[in-house]
Amino acid sequence: MVGEGTLRFALRGGKFNEGHAAIIGAMKKQPAAFATANASAPAKISARGGKVNKAWLHDHINDPYVKLATREGYRARAAYKLKEIDEAFGLVRPGQMIVDLGCAPGAWSQYLRRRLAPSGAAAGALQGKIIGLDLLPMEAIEGVDFIMGDFREQETLTALEQSLGGLQADLVVSDMAPNLSGISSADAARVEHLVELAIEFAQNHMKKQGALVAKVFHGGSYDAVVAHFKNAFHTVKPHKPKASRDRSSETFLVGIGLR
Ligand SMILES: C[S@@+](CC[C@H](N)C(=O)[O-])C[C@H]1O[C@@H](n2cnc3c(N)ncnc32)[C@H](O)[C@@H]1O
Repeated sequence: MVGEGTLRFALRGGKFNEGHAAIIGAMKKQPAAFATANASAPAKISARGGKVNKAWLHDHINDPYVKLATREGYRARAAYKLKEIDEAFGLVRPGQMIVDLGCAPGAWSQYLRRRLAPSGAAAGALQGKIIGLDLLPMEAIEGVDFIMGDFREQETLTALEQSLGGLQADLVVSDMAPNLSGISSADAARVEHLVELAIEFAQNHMKKQGALVAKVFHGGSYDAVVAHFKNAFHTVKPHKPKASRDRSSETFLVGIGLR
């Protein structure tokens, strides 16, 4: 379903995410099945044909950020990661042009949309513009332009450039994460490649004084990615929001002011 103000460029279709979104969907549709999972149940339970780790599911259901996200109408707990980063660095301001890379299912775009609204509303007037981009489809968010495509492809970049309409972004945020193969060197290279592309995009389409937030992972290519950031930005700060699970190696790099 495509909402008003939403651009959809069905360029390279990715498979619909059978992960996080599917699990939440399955939980919503079959609360009884999830509520009755107990110690005698097998360690793995099935959600829409996929295997879900029971301990992960238990943590997820009891996670305060998941509960908060449900209460506040966010599609994913990820919203609170960007909120914390924004509160730490003061990045988002009404009137800005913001690009959200890897935006599906849309929690970051929802947060940005509320921040650009005069009274923080999830609908209605908006000061500024948000362009979201993802391989996967995303349910429309009022006031957010959406481009569906692979950020690594030239045609997706062209669509993004068209949506910018010759303007430069004030802020670029990237929560993109590649599908992991389990081969650490290949996975590290994929992460590094996506971050490099995000930096290159910021260098070509963001204001000098703008900022880039990108998800990165410790280990693998972390040092190389930090070096890329330092080559591109005057100020580079790592930030691990409280909403990012301790056991996750993810962290975020914030680059401010292009060199
Ligand atoms: C962790 S999720 C993003 C969650 C999002 N920030 C939110 O708040 O809802 C990572 C997203 O990156 C997207 N992604 C990964 N590689 C991509 C690529 N090459 N181009 C576009 N999107 C990509 C995935 O499809 C996935 O939806």
